[in-house]
This record gives sequence, structure tokens and C-alpha cells, in this order.
Amino acid sequence: MPRAQRASTPLSIAPNAAQLDLELPAELPRLAIAPEWKDQQRLWGHSFHPMCSYLASFPAALAHAFIARWSRPGDVVLDPFSGRGTTPLQACAEGRIGVGNDLNPFAYLLSSAKVEPATPAEARTRLTALRLRWASEGAAWLALSLRLLAAPGPGGALVPAAGSLASPVDGVEPVPLEVALAFHPRTFAQLLFVRTVLRLDDRVDRFLAAGLTGILHGKSASYLSEVMPNTFSMARGYVRDFVARTDFHSPERDVFGCLDRKLTRLYRQPLPASTGIALLGDARDAGVRTRTALRARGLPDRARLVVTSPPYLRVVKYGYYNWMRAWLLGEDPAAIDAALDDAHHRTAYLQFMREVLDGLRPALADDAVVVLVVGDVERDRGRHLIGGVGLAEKVWAEAALPAGYRLAGVALDDVAAGRKMTKLWGDEAGRATKLDRILVLGATEAGRRRALSGAALPVDWDWPPRRLRAL
Ligand SMILES: C[S@@+](CC[C@H](N)C(=O)[O-])C[C@H]1O[C@@H](n2cnc3c(N)ncnc32)[C@H](O)[C@@H]1O
Repeated sequence: MPRAQRASTPLSIAPNAAQLDLELPAELPRLAIAPEWKDQQRLWGHSFHPMCSYLASFPAALAHAFIARWSRPGDVVLDPFSGRGTTPLQACAEGRIGVGNDLNPFAYLLSSAKVEPATPAEARTRLTALRLRWASEGAAWLALSLRLLAAPGPGGALVPAAGSLASPVDGVEPVPLEVALAFHPRTFAQLLFVRTVLRLDDRVDRFLAAGLTGILHGKSASYLSEVMPNTFSMARGYVRDFVARTDFHSPERDVFGCLDRKLTRLYRQPLPASTGIALLGDARDAGVRTRTALRARGLPDRARLVVTSPPYLRVVKYGYYNWMRAWLLGEDPAAIDAALDDAHHRTAYLQFMREVLDGLRPALADDAVVVLVVGDVERDRGRHLIGGVGLAEKVWAEAALPAGYRLAGVALDDVAAGRKMTKLWGDEAGRATKLDRILVLGATEAGRRRALSGAALPVDWDWPPRRLRAL
């Protein structure tokens, strides 16, 4: 069926009763929402979405399915686990105020670059200034790069800290051997320079840094190193073995040229219609911080919609799998993993979710709708994970219900085997989320009613939407 025709089809799913009994305990009502987001093209949505890959992110079209139903332009849409910023960006692109919160500094960088972006003129002016400075300082950075490559790893030359604005002689920290092995000496020198002079407390520099994380490694000429794919960083041991086994020498890539082309891809569409807010912090107190941040900007201070996917049970280590991007940003991958709530067993996880849902309350409108995309995790590194299956039902019964939420229903998003996490780790790892269950809650009875009445609304899948094109 052609896309336009499909898009105008009103939503209806006749729940298959037999299937329903098998998949859900009888008391959880199924919400009749067709997973139309799966029918959209891979890059559906704003051109900022693919800024950088991020593990376990959901597609922009999924966020749209709920933003379109349960919010209006001007409303606040919140994601307390915003990851790479899919929900807040899509909300801003649709004229809502998108607010994203995450405890991972890499996620914060991506979310903030998307919802408070640099304009094309700002980004290109800054990039030109960096090029000019490189023209005068590049020789010293290249000398440092060559010294490092002559004796890489611990005991070798030291480099300035990320964001320290220091000169190449003010070295304070070693560079991991595997970083040095991954790049051409000149690309490496440019990266050392850019990493030192970009200021992550500056909106324009954040945008450039976020774009850089997206082109750091990948298997084409758009990327600065081809040593590994762009989805995530391979283990450091893998990089060492790969380099030794294949006598890998990265082709020279000009950081400024590659970043310039990345900007062209990002700015393919006009900037999002509204500006949003990105926050760095724990989801458990995201409600209070969100409200404070909204008030400080004179904006409506309560969200009418939350669309989020909480961390799954023990699936992803965001620091470990992004160690090279973390190096670029001056972050410690182990510290990221120690801080995030990705390592809980079920009981602790449910307690965590209870605290998150309690903590959201201060930022929720009375009739707020809360959409939780919960992955069922069947196995962890090949071992059966007790309590993984049926997680959404547990989240409802042991976290949302006691926190006073009202259940509108559960929508199912059947993730075809091999499509999502398995694609990243390979089947043998068995770390697949088999089925996403989408819990739709009301903050109060008013929210539940709004969720039920909005569920049947048809959603327009044209992108960009006609009414936003004139903006
Ligand atoms: C499944 S991912 C969300 C992905 C997001 N929906 C996207 O499309 O990019 C879960 C996120 O929870 C974050 N996280 C883990 N523990 C957290 C905590 N205590 N507070 C806030 N964020 C946390 C992780 O950093 C990760 O980005």
C-alpha cells in the first residue's frame, strides 16, 4: 500500500483475543494502537535525529505516534531518559517544548545539541574559526601527535585535557593506545586540537562536538576512522588485535571537511520549530528539575505528555560501548557505567521505576499521559534472565499503580528477531529484547480518559508536516 494512503488509514487494531491471553495477563487491557511507526522509512523525522548512533534508541516515528495523539503545539513533552534525544527533538520539530533529561553526559550532549541547536550560520562561523586557528597552530599539534604515535599508551607523551583550551605542550593526561592506533597521524592531531578547544558549556561548540561524535568511527569515507563501525565502540582489545592482524593504517581524513559535510547533512531540514531544554541528571528527581528549568524560562511548567524508554534490565553499558566517544568528550566510560541504572535485577529495577514515577509528579499536568516503552529482556549474555519477560506488567503492578497512576492500556511493539539489539551484538550473544510493550498511563483519571480518547485518533505520517513547512 502506498505510504500516503497508509498514513490516512484510521487506527484500529482488533485485538486477537487468543493472542492476548497468551501475551498478557487478562487484567491488563490492550490499547488499540497500531504500530504504524514501523511502516515508516528508517530516517523518518527531523534530519537531526541521525546525528550520532545510540544504543537502544527508539525511532523518531514511534515518538511521533504519541506526540501527535496526546499533545498539541505549545505543550511540554518530557523524556526523563532521553538518550540521544529522540522524544524531545521530535517534540520540538512538531512545535512542542521538548524536554530531555539523562544521567549519561554523552546522552545529554546529544539531547542538548538537538533541542538547543546552533544555527547553520553559527556552526559554520565557528568551524571556520577552528580551521583558521588550526592553520596557525596545526604544526605543534602534529608534532604532539607524532610523539604520541612513536610511544603510545601509558608512559608516552601527555595531551591537554578535553575542553581545557590549553596549548599542545600543556599535557596532563595520557591517550589510550587504541585511540592513537585508530586514526591517521594528521587526523589524530586535528582531533587532539578540536577536543582541547571545544567548550561543552557553549551551545554552538556542543553542536559541533555532538556532530563529531557521530563521525568518529564508521565504515565509510564520511568517518574519521574506519577501525570500527559507527553503531558503538568495539572493545579496546578488539581494536588492538584488529590493527595488528590487518596491519591497519587509517586513511587521512580531514576533521574540518568531514564535519562540514556532516553539518550539511544535519541542516538538510530547517531547524526544529521550537527550542527545548536538555537536563543532565537522575530521572528520579527529573520532575522537580524540569519544573524549575521551565519556570526559569517563563514556559508552561508541567508536561502534558511523557514518552520514554527506561533503561532495560542489564542490557546496555553506555560508557563501555562508547569509550572512544567518551574519550573525545573527556569523560570516563567506567564512571558513566557506575552512575547509570542499567545493572539492576528485577526487584531493584521495579523500586527504581517506582521512584522515577513518583519523582515525575511535580512536572506532570493533571491530565498528563505517560507512555513507557518497556523492553522485555529474555536473555543476558546467553543466560536466561529471571524476571525479564512480562516486565511491563510488573512495572505497572509494582511501580506505576502504587505511585497512583491510572492504566489506559498496553500496546505491543513486536520487535522482529534480529532487527534491533541482535543486529548489534550478533545472535550468539543472545542479548535481544524480543518485544517492546508500551504502557500507557494517565497521571490521574483525567489523563487516563485523555489517553483512551486520543488512542483512536488518526495520525498524519507526512514528514515534514504541511503546516510546519511554512515556518
Ligand atoms: C533505553 S535508553 C533511552 C533511549 C532513548 N529513548 C533514545 O531514543 O535515544 C535509556 C537511557 O536511560 C539513561 N539512564 C540510565 N539510568 C538513568 C538514571 N538514573 N537517570 C537518568 N537517565 C538514566 C541511559 O543513559 C540511557 O540513555
